[in-house]
Amino acid sequence: MIEQTYAGYLQDRYGFAGTGVLTDFLSRHNERLLLGDTVDLGALVAQYGAPLEVSYCPLITQQVQNMLDYATAARAQTGYAGDFLYAYATKANFSEEVVRTALGAGANYETSAAADVVIAHHLWRQGILPEDRYIFCNGSKEDAYIDGIVALRRAGYERVVAVLDDLNELEELIARCAAPMLFGVRERHAPEVVDLAHPGGERFGLTPAEIEQVVARLAGTSHQLMVYHAMVGSQIEDAAAWEARLQRSVTAYATIAARVPEMTMFNFGGGMPTSGYDLGFNFDYTGFLSNLMASTGRICADYGVAAPLIVAECGRYTVANHNVYLLEVGRVKQQGALEPWYLLNGSLMVSAPDTLIVDQEFVVLPLDGWDDAMQGVRLGGRRTCDSDDLYPRPNRPALPLPAFCEGMVLAVFGVGAYQSMIAGKGGAHHCLNPEMRRIIIEQDGDQLVLREVAPQGLVAMMTALGYNREVIEPARQPIQQPIRLPISQQAAPLPVRPARPMRPARRRQVAPALRPSFVARQFAGSV
Ligand SMILES: Cc1ncc(COP(=O)(O)O)c(C=O)c1O
Repeated sequence: MIEQTYAGYLQDRYGFAGTGVLTDFLSRHNERLLLGDTVDLGALVAQYGAPLEVSYCPLITQQVQNMLDYATAARAQTGYAGDFLYAYATKANFSEEVVRTALGAGANYETSAAADVVIAHHLWRQGILPEDRYIFCNGSKEDAYIDGIVALRRAGYERVVAVLDDLNELEELIARCAAPMLFGVRERHAPEVVDLAHPGGERFGLTPAEIEQVVARLAGTSHQLMVYHAMVGSQIEDAAAWEARLQRSVTAYATIAARVPEMTMFNFGGGMPTSGYDLGFNFDYTGFLSNLMASTGRICADYGVAAPLIVAECGRYTVANHNVYLLEVGRVKQQGALEPWYLLNGSLMVSAPDTLIVDQEFVVLPLDGWDDAMQGVRLGGRRTCDSDDLYPRPNRPALPLPAFCEGMVLAVFGVGAYQSMIAGKGGAHHCLNPEMRRIIIEQDGDQLVLREVAPQGLVAMMTALGYNREVIEPARQPIQQPIRLPISQQAAPLPVRPARPMRPARRRQVAPALRPSFVARQFAGSV
């Protein structure tokens, strides 16, 4: 029997011939895997070792721009009279560079927690969050969250929208804030559409009767009811079913907008799927938006109301693909006729907790060994002592990988959304699995800026756990200064020479001495 190579498997399964574009965030040239068609993952491992987390922020910008382009195309196709607004659901990844990049790409802001709205306030004060952006505040609101929204509004931020999840929130907000406020109502899933296989979403929002109470309460006040919010779910890949669900929400929107002229936004929340979980992913974003715009326009015309501004709050779509984990197979354990264990110098249970919580699959590819024989394997985390630290889950087929084994580095893609937030940043993790060294790459004008963040040290963990701070661990410290690289379509061989610190986050005005062209001239040929 002729053994199939790993490359042959990919060819048969996904039609990928080994060179060129693999998916929208990944390509392979000269046998090197390139994230965002730019970052040579093998070169990063050669320079920094594994385990390594790589965050490539330009992919976030690209995602936002792509969606805005899809919406423009959908409007052109359907002649939709309303507009489209992109918001980043920060709960997917609160990291500073992530939120700053999404805002820099033009995203509006969606919050889910008290601290989140405080961060938005802080970003506004720093000039990173421009005040023409909407801030949609979702989720059940305890006192601190309400205080945060009120503080932002009182400080003069006009476009903060409290999306009511419960009736009591309305009275609390009005009582604490004299300034006119913008409100939204979150629709509660109707009992007949609740999916009992995926419970949880039905706890959010207001019933139709409660929404009517909000309409009555706000009538004649200085406050405005502006947003109808209807979230169906997350990672929705069945566009037709999604659009059908939204049609009934648009109808509910139109019945209110017919009586409340300031109701002008239809917000369908999250759900926009990402390509990060499956190389075979296929979703027609423009088609989905076209159908939504066509049906929204039609329904609203029937009710005699203007086509609303359609809002999408994209979490996973925005950030899933910008992050990758690079983990090394340290040991291989055979187990007779069963698939062998490839034991990693990390823990997917800790670093990608959705593998365990919701049986989430991710794209996993080897950096090398594509011409070796392929075999089905199971991944195990070597840094926990936990039999649940395995991937794929036992109910899933084995993971096809090259048989060449120890020393092989695997790239786990699509981990930029939710994983590090659920795992937590800092502190102590399961079996004291330390957080990996991180490489953060951002675009600054016409250069890429690379920063290294040291892996989590033992002392930090011990301190979090209450042990004293005796330094017992020598650690290589990261290079203090970020590194600048010219942007090139080629693999970026990695870097060597530290350069100037990155310019402070977007300012309202760029000082002449730091204009990109100047920076480019200064550092031309220096890397
Ligand atoms: C109100 C709201 N908007 C947006 C999102 C983001 O969803 P997704 O990551 O599917 O885009 C969520 C996720 O829970 C949410 O609750």
